[in-house]
Amino acid sequence: MANKRFCVVCGKEKEQRLVGFGDIKVFIECECERKLREEKEIKNRGFALKTAVELRDRSSHLSTLGRRASFDKAISDEHNERALNGGKYLLDKLLGKIEDDKKDGLVLIGTRGSGKTYVACAVIKEFNAQYPVSDETINKLVSERDRGFSLKWHTPVSSPCKFITESDLFAIYYDNFNYRRVDSPANEFKCAEKLLVIDDVGTLHHELGRIQAMYLNIIDYRYSEGLSTVITTNLPRKELCDYLGDRVYDRLLSCCYFVDLTAPQSRRDNVI
Ligand SMILES: Nc1ncnc2c1ncn2[C@@H]1O[C@H](COP(=O)(O)OP(=O)(O)OP(=O)(O)O)[C@@H](O)[C@H]1O
Ligand SMILES: [Mg+2]
Ligand SMILES: [Zn+2]
Repeated sequence: MANKRFCVVCGKEKEQRLVGFGDIKVFIECECERKLREEKEIKNRGFALKTAVELRDRSSHLSTLGRRASFDKAISDEHNERALNGGKYLLDKLLGKIEDDKKDGLVLIGTRGSGKTYVACAVIKEFNAQYPVSDETINKLVSERDRGFSLKWHTPVSSPCKFITESDLFAIYYDNFNYRRVDSPANEFKCAEKLLVIDDVGTLHHELGRIQAMYLNIIDYRYSEGLSTVITTNLPRKELCDYLGDRVYDRLLSCCYFVDLTAPQSRRDNVI
């Protein structure tokens, strides 16, 4: 082994130090090399955290529009203030900042374009951004990037919050669901460990029996396991109760805050 080494930055010869009981000598990292290494570590960490959040958003099945939702950027007025506060409250609950409240879900009821989906997506988006990322995940993402992986090829980073529309849920549930199969694709949503958002409840106009059976199975499971659910709908309370069935509605009453949103005109009209 060469008995001289030089700093790759300033070229100065590196000092050596004896370690252990034997006469093992190690080279001491030069100050400028240490700085370079620390800067690289900070950059790697920044890259990994940003990538982990993007991968979590994918795993949550947020749409491109949903990914833009944010409590910081949200326009707040008298029509949606309660819903935004409800969303922030739920977020704190999911992050473990609030403990002594058995209600852990939201039913967002409102007119077209009033911002229901926006609030639901903001909860998931902020959760994914704030939930800690493990060192193991950080190291894995950095090593994958160094091997040339792009976002699409990285090992997925799973989010415990899932988003799905009612019509997609219905299709997945009845295409693939089998009570004896624990790996059914519908289970990803039914068993989402923190939060399941079911968007646009009340849009299916056929097979009410099958719709109600699906909701009873999913909502009863989440209710019994103490898992949060958010529902968005255009249906007023009475119609929502008829649509979901008494048993499902009763469970929602017990575990969710019901919040009304009414926008005088669709917020879609303000999008430039
Ligand atoms: N608080 C807000 N601040 C800024 N933009 C918002 C806000 N709420 C909603 N929007 C925007 O307004 C549009 C309509 O909102 P959203 O899709 O959430 O309505 P909705 O109540 O789910 O409507 P629908 O009943 O038709 O599903 C979206 O483009 C959304 O990004
Ligand atoms: Mg919507
Ligand atoms: Zn140096």
